[in-house]
Amino acid sequence: MNQTASSVVTDGIALITLDNPPVNALSAPLRQALQSELDRAFRDDQVHAIMLICAGRTFIAGADITEFGQPWQSPSLPDLCAMLDAAPKPVIAAIHGTALGGGFELALACHYRVVAASARVGLPEVNLGLLPGAGGTQRIPRVVGAKAALDIVTSGRQIKAKEALSLGLVDAIADDPSLQSEALAFARRVVADGAAKPRIRDRTDAIEGDRNAPDLFTTFATTNARRFKGFPAPGAIIEAVQAAVMLDFDDGLAKEAALFEQLVASPESAAQRHVFFAEREAARVPDIGPETAAIDIAAVGVIGAGTMGGGITMNFLNAGIPVTLVETNQEALDRGIATIRRNYEATASKGRMTGQQVEQRMALISPSLELGALAHADLVIEAVYESMDVKTDIFARLDRIAKPGAILASNTSFLNLDRIAAATSRPEWVVGLHFFSPANVMRLLEVVRGAATAKPVVATAMRLAKRIGKVAVLSGVCDGFIANRLLAPRGTQAEAMMLEGTPIEAIDRVLVDYGFAMGHFQMMDLVGLDVIGRNATERTVMGDLVAAGRLGQKRGAGYYDYDEKRRPHASDLTANLISEVAAAASVAHSPTVGDEAILARLLYPVVTEGARILEEGIALRASDIDIAAVLGYNWPVYRGGPLFWADQVGLGKIVADMRQLEALHGETFRPAPLLVRLAEGGKRFGDRS
Ligand code: 3HC
Repeated sequence: MNQTASSVVTDGIALITLDNPPVNALSAPLRQALQSELDRAFRDDQVHAIMLICAGRTFIAGADITEFGQPWQSPSLPDLCAMLDAAPKPVIAAIHGTALGGGFELALACHYRVVAASARVGLPEVNLGLLPGAGGTQRIPRVVGAKAALDIVTSGRQIKAKEALSLGLVDAIADDPSLQSEALAFARRVVADGAAKPRIRDRTDAIEGDRNAPDLFTTFATTNARRFKGFPAPGAIIEAVQAAVMLDFDDGLAKEAALFEQLVASPESAAQRHVFFAEREAARVPDIGPETAAIDIAAVGVIGAGTMGGGITMNFLNAGIPVTLVETNQEALDRGIATIRRNYEATASKGRMTGQQVEQRMALISPSLELGALAHADLVIEAVYESMDVKTDIFARLDRIAKPGAILASNTSFLNLDRIAAATSRPEWVVGLHFFSPANVMRLLEVVRGAATAKPVVATAMRLAKRIGKVAVLSGVCDGFIANRLLAPRGTQAEAMMLEGTPIEAIDRVLVDYGFAMGHFQMMDLVGLDVIGRNATERTVMGDLVAAGRLGQKRGAGYYDYDEKRRPHASDLTANLISEVAAAASVAHSPTVGDEAILARLLYPVVTEGARILEEGIALRASDIDIAAVLGYNWPVYRGGPLFWADQVGLGKIVADMRQLEALHGETFRPAPLLVRLAEGGKRFGDRS
């Protein structure tokens, strides 16, 4: 790998090019190279201005995240920024692609910034549980004021060139192909005009007013409390921006550095960094390398225009891929298409899409009542009712209709893909594409590899996921695949504890305190008890609630009573029902007491199920299981997923606790052999990835 900086001097301008593929992360060797190039340019009398530019697809994408948690090597990023602050000549950053995190901070320490029209800048550190640690929290407010700075840094959003210009974060926009020449011309003008060296650190104009608005910071924290819950980084960012307003620049920098050190050592940041790399690792399939050519997907067919089929369709429309949407009757087809339109129009009404974009997307749908309309599709995704008979019938018919070389996919969430594939004469072309509801929102896509699925089909599915904005996780065939199988025990335990007399409010609160957006029973109420409990054969609390007309939040009552603001309140009726059902099923009253005990009961079975999924080879690696939980079930990202969390708790402790639970509650709590082996060997799941 290159990891170099090189320079040439033309017309009195030193052009320093950084080259560290793929994204020019500021690794230690690159920082050292940049330091020596800057030093040389500072000392060279022939040089009157310096320009920093990057080779490859992007400007610097930030500090090298792989270095976090290791001893720092000199020069640090703040050292480089300090060097720029003390530069004897003007320094201009020429930005293309994305200048992110430390990359943007380095650019902010330069005297000028020229950006390509398609470039974006931003400080996404918050997504890694961090704050910008190279002056970002101090320089941004000095340009845009505290309020806008809080928004930019706590959201981590990427800012397009035009907005960056209007905010004053950059000085000029260049056409993409001529960035270098336009930035050089800019540099020459700076020199001709007297080589001024404006430093953001010296500015106070934008923060002057903020000094007299002490409530600004507490108001921002309170307004966003829900969004920030559980994440330590946003609070630290608010503190750092407040320091920018109240302290002088160097003291503010010192405060930022101290907060950065705290965050980088926090378990939350470690978890978020784990998720960052795990997401990218998930795309790799060991026996399928880049040499396996993917199949070109230019036209897609979706069978079923219900909630799933509609959501799946939207992913392809968003990526500009035309979809033939097939239903069995006109009414269902019309309803499905109307729902898609309504979803887009809702987005447009929030200003996140134009009316024209809505029409462009809708125009990509070809509705049909005939499977025959799928004859030209490169990929067909079946998203109909979960019945093996229905699915095998559809696949047998598809087999006769689809063109040779078309990928035939099922969105089944638990049926045996190999049996579905066996209904065709071409099982090697059959794959599972399991989307999560709502399919246009949830980022997880489980790619299910059947016994016969051909490598190019798997490769296509994995790469297609990225094209439609999903993160693919490869799964083998088993009941529930990875995510549903993994999380099922949590629900089973919540319901078992309920019957034993643990209040459902306590169970839900423990899950919310852990970081889930809502508890198990609140989730059931949200989805609708009539929808979930449909197949129950014995008496259940859910069945009784449905019989009492308590269908969930939509009716203002389910497990909980809901007030007009949809806030849940404990219900005596539910509590009585639970006691009745428990008595009828002869469940002894033995509530689990204490948050830690409730949490162990809920989540240790998930950990052990994860170990089984891993051991059976259903998932390729532990981190894939974490990604499935985080992206498919909103497992709190700052916990890193169930297996990363288990590593933090300690596998030895989990095994010991599970043995006690096994004695009380039976073999559900028997730790999986892999879990025991790792614990006995003093190892972690992370050691296997
Ligand atoms: N450090 C180390 N590796 C990085 C990296 C970084 N900052 N950013 C990306 N990479 C790696 C990825 O892991 C991936 O490696 P792989 O090919 O081995 O899997 C490779 O670069 C390509 O990345 P993507 O697959 O994500 O490529 P995309 O083109 O989809 O996206 C990107 C490019 C938008 C730059 C995206 O990679 C990204 O968002 N990167 C992280 C940006 C970031 O968070 N920067 C802040 C870092 S923290 C910091 O700067 C602290 C400072 O304030 C002190």
